[in-house]
Amino acid sequence: MKLAGLAGAGMLAGALILAACGKKGPESNDILIGEFGALTGSIASFGQSTHKGVALAVEEVNAGGGVLGRKIRLITEDDQGKPEEALTAVTKLISKDRVSALIGEFASSNSLAAAPFAQQSRIPMVSHGSTNPKVTQIGDYIFRVCFIDPFQGEVMAKFARNTLKLDRVAILRDIKSDYSVGLADYFTKSFTALGGTVVADESYSAGDKDFNAQLTALKGKTPAAIFVPGYYTEVGLIARQARKLGVHAILLGGDGWDSDKLWEIGGEALNGSYFSNHYSVDNPSPVIQGFVEQFKARYDGEKPDALAALGYDAAKVLIDAIRRAGSDDPKAIRDSLATTQGFAGITGIISLNENRDAVKSAVVLEVKDGKFVYKETVDP
Ligand code: PHE
Repeated sequence: MKLAGLAGAGMLAGALILAACGKKGPESNDILIGEFGALTGSIASFGQSTHKGVALAVEEVNAGGGVLGRKIRLITEDDQGKPEEALTAVTKLISKDRVSALIGEFASSNSLAAAPFAQQSRIPMVSHGSTNPKVTQIGDYIFRVCFIDPFQGEVMAKFARNTLKLDRVAILRDIKSDYSVGLADYFTKSFTALGGTVVADESYSAGDKDFNAQLTALKGKTPAAIFVPGYYTEVGLIARQARKLGVHAILLGGDGWDSDKLWEIGGEALNGSYFSNHYSVDNPSPVIQGFVEQFKARYDGEKPDALAALGYDAAKVLIDAIRRAGSDDPKAIRDSLATTQGFAGITGIISLNENRDAVKSAVVLEVKDGKFVYKETVDP
């Protein structure tokens, strides 16, 4: 598997042996960064993308001589997209590998499960994609390089109400996901404040395959659109089953839709749907296109999705903080991360506020024949 080569499976095994023996090896001068995410499981597309972005940033920095005259060693753990496994991964990275900092997770529920241990151990953690507000509220060692869901909910509510001019919208949320539940609530709040009506609010649990009961209930309320703030796996199935049931409402969603697997699962049923995201791969900005080319050259022509870009940005922000700290001491890195301002990332200018959240723009994309077509940018 290509990933094993990326993470340096041999190097990783070597690192484990060294850590286990408590001896200093030839690479002991390396700065250790731990990464955790779903490399396998139902949301593996997210974890694979973020890993590629993170690894690319680390390779680039190492090729340029590293940071503080030292190489960075990335130790990657697969948490299968499960909260319990995310905690296990972080516990291992901190207690056994003794990493100086962590990158992860993207799924808010997994970050929420792992962050308390990072906080308690005083190891800084930078999430690339977790947008639920509660994540950074865990404590002053927890950061993120993405926007948060009160903003994302407002972006889609305004798009539905002001751009699409819709009055009646229904919600279909994943009650197992902190991300989905939060985003559904924030959307409702904003959409209602704009004079719209939420005509129904149905739910499912990640892993479900049959959404006919919920869709039939929604159909009876004749919504003009259905907001589905879930992950691509279920969203693709929901789109298919909705169309089959004769539900032609516009489907709307959030960043959890961002995967090329979405179209593989949902196909044409998704045409004319819209979702908010962290960046558009088609943005003509030279910074973004330079990154797209660099990523494609490294990964067999693959186009970086938002998670790949966020992974790259998270690693770059963290490495910049290490450089400014002049040390890989976790407390020094934390303090320097907290002062991140105006960092020019791929997903936008990253400035962390007093809550350690990034305040950034979002984009709205339209799903069209397997492509995500750029519609608009919304500033905070
Ligand atoms: N924002 C999602 C969450 O908090 C994760 C995600 C980020 C998914 C970016 C796709 C793209 O759970």
